[in-house]
Amino acid sequence: MLFTPLKLRGVTAPNRSVVSPMVQYRATDGQVNDYHLVHLGKFALGKFGIVFTENCAVEPRGRVTQGDLGMWDDGQIEGHKRLVRFLKQEGALAGTQITHSGRKGSTPRSFDKPGQLGPEGAGWQRWQVVGPSELAAGEGYATPKQLGTDEIEGLVKKFGEAARRADAAGYDVIEIHGAHGYLLAQFLSRVSNTRNDQYGGDRAGRMRFPLAAARAVREGWPAHKPMFIRVSTVDGAGGWEVEDTVAFAKELKAMGVDVIDCSSGGLTGLSTALPVKRSLGFQVPFSAAVKRQAGIATMTVGLILDGPQAEAILQAGDADLIAIGRQALYDPFWALHAAQELGCDTSFDLWNPEYGWWLDKRKNNLPDRKKA
Ligand SMILES: Cc1cc2nc3c(=O)[nH]c(=O)nc-3n(C[C@H](O)[C@H](O)[C@H](O)COP(=O)(O)O)c2cc1C
Repeated sequence: MLFTPLKLRGVTAPNRSVVSPMVQYRATDGQVNDYHLVHLGKFALGKFGIVFTENCAVEPRGRVTQGDLGMWDDGQIEGHKRLVRFLKQEGALAGTQITHSGRKGSTPRSFDKPGQLGPEGAGWQRWQVVGPSELAAGEGYATPKQLGTDEIEGLVKKFGEAARRADAAGYDVIEIHGAHGYLLAQFLSRVSNTRNDQYGGDRAGRMRFPLAAARAVREGWPAHKPMFIRVSTVDGAGGWEVEDTVAFAKELKAMGVDVIDCSSGGLTGLSTALPVKRSLGFQVPFSAAVKRQAGIATMTVGLILDGPQAEAILQAGDADLIAIGRQALYDPFWALHAAQELGCDTSFDLWNPEYGWWLDKRKNNLPDRKKA
């Protein structure tokens, strides 16, 4: 199943392997540059079915770090276009993830030393972060300014405008980042959202802004192109549980969301509150629950390492798409290797011929122990 195409509205993924969004902190002013082209381009050469960019902010203060990509300005479309052209030329669907970091913005890169903010000499500055309530994500995080209702309505429009730009750049698939404790997840969870206006309170109130943002994206995004949303199926802090995600997914499905990308955790910032132990395929049960209970296609992610593991998930009906994160960093040719492990490509036919023809010939010259 991993190497069966998947039709999503008017586009078809050539297979069900997906490069998960992974932020690289390499942008200046949110612009795509050569680094992004090479970093993501190699996954297209590796024949993943869908290649997602990292999270692209819908406004500058919605970045996680100052080096994140952006989708907030028409001047950013050209750079995205160049990247999209290459991904599609090599046969992948080009996907992008749009986001707002909310109270988890303005942070150092994950590998920065204490006291360091961004690359040395790059002049990275902190900015005032925003959120549903004046509650910080945890130690080391700034206290956000509470968003007013007019600001929330403005942000809904920004999600829609980002979708329009993503379409203009030529992306085939759009994903809203509603997971990992970023702004939309902050609104969903009763732990981070203590508002008592129409954007807080009960689950319907807490879902109001994320649903409005999703509706604006669906409206700004062509009907023939699929739309995903990534959720933390459980937030790990007791403020959002599987049954909440199922209710949310049903509403999203009704408004035209095609795939729920089932991640988890991240609400309280540092990875101290893990909702589940990180073992192989640790988030697959979330995807299975959402897929069955909400009756919607799902993508699963999290410690999926090889073809047989991915295939077993699909065969069990636990997900429709398999997202690969760190294993793709380790092996950009993961999809092609998975096809070989599964016996779907014994003669390098899935590879570009510029590589495959040679590798197939080489196969016959290899001593047994090195057979590719
Ligand atoms: C370097 C890196 C950057 C990430 N950036 C994002 C991101 O921009 N958006 C997002 O939704 N998840 C992000 N994630 C999470 C991954 O998409 C993925 O869900 C997570 O790494 C678990 O999958 P894995 O075990 O296959 O790596 C990032 C992960 C890594 C390792």
